[in-house]
Amino acid sequence: KKIVLAYSGGLDTSAIIPWLKENYNCEVVAFAADVGQGDDELEGLHEKAIASGASECHIVDLKEEFVNDYIFPTITTGAVYEGEYLLGTSMARPVIAKAQVEVARKVGADALCHGCTGKGNDQVRFESTFAALAPDLTVIAPWREWDMVSREDLLDYLAERNIATTASATKIYSRDANAWHISHEGGELEDPWQEPTKGVWTMTVDPEDAPDKPERVSLSFNEGRLTHVDGEALSPYQALVKLNNVAAAHGVGRIDIVENRLVGMKSRGCYETPGGTVLLKAYKALETMVLDKAALKYREQIGLEFSHVMYDGRWFTALNDALLAGAASFAQKVTGDIVVKLYKGQATVTQRRSPNSLYSEDFATFGADDVYDQKHAEGFIRLFSLSSRIEALKNQG
Ligand code: ARG
Ligand code: SIN
Repeated sequence: KKIVLAYSGGLDTSAIIPWLKENYNCEVVAFAADVGQGDDELEGLHEKAIASGASECHIVDLKEEFVNDYIFPTITTGAVYEGEYLLGTSMARPVIAKAQVEVARKVGADALCHGCTGKGNDQVRFESTFAALAPDLTVIAPWREWDMVSREDLLDYLAERNIATTASATKIYSRDANAWHISHEGGELEDPWQEPTKGVWTMTVDPEDAPDKPERVSLSFNEGRLTHVDGEALSPYQALVKLNNVAAAHGVGRIDIVENRLVGMKSRGCYETPGGTVLLKAYKALETMVLDKAALKYREQIGLEFSHVMYDGRWFTALNDALLAGAASFAQKVTGDIVVKLYKGQATVTQRRSPNSLYSEDFATFGADDVYDQKHAEGFIRLFSLSSRIEALKNQG
């Protein structure tokens, strides 16, 4: 028997390796995805997996695929979960789980395993992807099976088996990082009345300590895709890295929210999405130039629906494909340049232009114009409000 484990090198998945071998009498193949979480998480991962008892360790670079095939399409939908969350963890799960299935096929595995708890969203996202891509493989979720409950339990478990670990008993926060964001949950954040301490934040400068001088960054889009940052042509991943650096230095992209998890409970989380915050703002600003009222309204509906599809782990579904196709149709018009000003935690759009712009100074001006006859508005409003007039006249008797 062979099991492919989504492995991070953290305490949980380190304990899962010997636990699987003992309880399933199997070979464990470790799989780790590079989704841009940073070199410190990936360093020494291979050796660590083998030392914990894995027979092989596959580290797959998904950075460009993640940004190009998951993040960029999601941006075209405008999706923001419950008005605030930019879906950083949600977007990473399908690309990771898909690559895990590919490793399972390559090594001829019978089962897939992840280290998500039985209380969260991530288990649903992993397993929905497994269901769609590998319905024949068994799924194992140790957190729903074993009776260990604390980090001390996991440390004792490893110590009993003489498996070395650098993990400590006191890790305060549960964090998840990738090229788009980092999330922070747990610790004092579990009390929603408790303001996050400075130690929560890791990716962005505290807005209070950010530079006193604003900085401007320009973004160029072609048919809905970010192509240039400050005039420099960059790959999707490289563009995001550049935006992250400039936005993080100005403390942009922090949020502190309570959200509804799919499994029913509410959870409190802090998120840092510096580059993504700038990118989404710029994208939406460009949309306002090129989409008319009805198109923009419908795009917003796509975004609302899509935020739940993405959050709930329903990437590999027909609904996902249809929503993305609709968004892609609107995105064809989204070409042009946006300038965003970054200052003490704020990202403000200050300039916009597009070859597809529907904005017409000739029509919009408060000064004199000769393209728009104000008399026409009277007839428009009479018909637009005709049903109200008919009903009001009837009520007057
Ligand atoms: N609440 C966020 C979400 O569901 C973040 C989850 C973080 N996951 C983690 N394994 N730490 O998308
Ligand atoms: C987990 O429970 O494994 C992390 C949090 C989440 O998935 O929502």
